[in-house]
Amino acid sequence: MRIQGGKLATGQGLIEADLRIEGEKIVEVLVPGADPREEPVIDATNRWVLPGAVDAHTHFGMPLGDGRSSLGWRESSEAALLGGTTTVVDFANPEPGEPLPAAVERWRAMADPQILCDYGLHCTVLDISPERLDEIPALVESGIPTLKGFLAYPGRLMLDREQMRILMRVVARSEGLLLVHAEDGAMNTVAQKVLTDVGRTGSRWHPLAHPARSETLAVETALELARETRCRLEIVHASLADTVDLVNEARSGYGQDVLLEVCLHHLFLDDSLYLGGHSAALAAICSPPLRPAENGERLMRALAEGEADLLSTDHCEFDLGTKLKAAEGGFPAVPNGCGGVGERLTLSYALGVVTGKLDVGRWIGSISARPARLMGLAGRKGRLAAGHDADIVLFDPMPEYRWEPLGASDRRGSIWAGMPVCGRVRDVWLRGRQVVADGQLVPDAPNGCYLERTL
Ligand code: URP
Ligand code: ZN
Ligand code: ZN
Repeated sequence: MRIQGGKLATGQGLIEADLRIEGEKIVEVLVPGADPREEPVIDATNRWVLPGAVDAHTHFGMPLGDGRSSLGWRESSEAALLGGTTTVVDFANPEPGEPLPAAVERWRAMADPQILCDYGLHCTVLDISPERLDEIPALVESGIPTLKGFLAYPGRLMLDREQMRILMRVVARSEGLLLVHAEDGAMNTVAQKVLTDVGRTGSRWHPLAHPARSETLAVETALELARETRCRLEIVHASLADTVDLVNEARSGYGQDVLLEVCLHHLFLDDSLYLGGHSAALAAICSPPLRPAENGERLMRALAEGEADLLSTDHCEFDLGTKLKAAEGGFPAVPNGCGGVGERLTLSYALGVVTGKLDVGRWIGSISARPARLMGLAGRKGRLAAGHDADIVLFDPMPEYRWEPLGASDRRGSIWAGMPVCGRVRDVWLRGRQVVADGQLVPDAPNGCYLERTL
């Protein structure tokens, strides 16, 4: 098959070229019209041809205490494909005391029958018992080289400073990468108690339970410990301008090799949503929370200038009904997270490229090539190059309209619904097979594949 007549979006910008695909792979990038072979041709005139996007941070089936979960593997992966994301890296979260490989198997048993896009897994580490730590080298070897540790959520997920230091030593020895949720759990707990003690339990108070200093303190801790232990570190979902400065200082002052991830909602939305009424505030409950707008502008510049390495979503979508019910117990009971996997490609184009904040090369790099490379999928995902999986998106850069959440996403629970945007994902191929045609999921789309990753 040949895709011809379009403009290929590459790390160097737009180029006119054709693509030849055989089976699941791209086999050649050709000068336009250069291939005389008789074969089926996809006409990409007036389209940009993009590599299927890669989202390095999603939670497609995050279980809740009562057995429900965030939107679900099938529904979230539908939104991913419809939005041009063909690969995600999700998180396997162990139960207390559960071996890490068992958590991964459990997660795969949930995902494999449901998921429509390709996916890899990170693994969260909840405790540093010798048994758990012993499992890490083999986990890294087996294709899960990225682990996540939390400095927040005491009693549930949090590791204290000493525990985080020990985990980092083991991850460093295993040649893995540690993703750190950088908020200070103790500080958040005190801030939350101050609010709830005086009855401030409404959704609008959520951001005040996650002070900016809590993030910067935890970022300082993570950077310091990673330097000491020589652990490769990624600060995930950075929400503050100050976080960019701290990471830059560590890089320039100590030559520290640290990755910085920013997420769509922290770039393009701000904390005014928490004052927009109960439902709007609930939809925006995530952590770290949305911040004053100047932070988003700084994060955007960090992405444009290469200070931020990855543009992810932290997609963790709950319908509004779930959040409304939980909110009866006050904001601390509301599950944290927002959707974004369907939105990332188009919104970062509309609000980044079209506004002149992000050039095409940086845009494409941030949503596909760099996440693929940094997450251990180089040579397979994220680029339109011979030998890579034929994960391809035909994107129409022109239409202007108001955003409607894709697939089964809940409009009322969406932080993005109604936003003026530009550009639309029209057609998507996953490993050479068309899965989205003219903006609709094809009826017999096959399940996605699990991906072992190597850094
Ligand atoms: O609010 C968020 N971010 N929910 C997902 C879990 C996490 O901490 O990444
Ligand atoms: Zn997190
Ligand atoms: Zn997350």
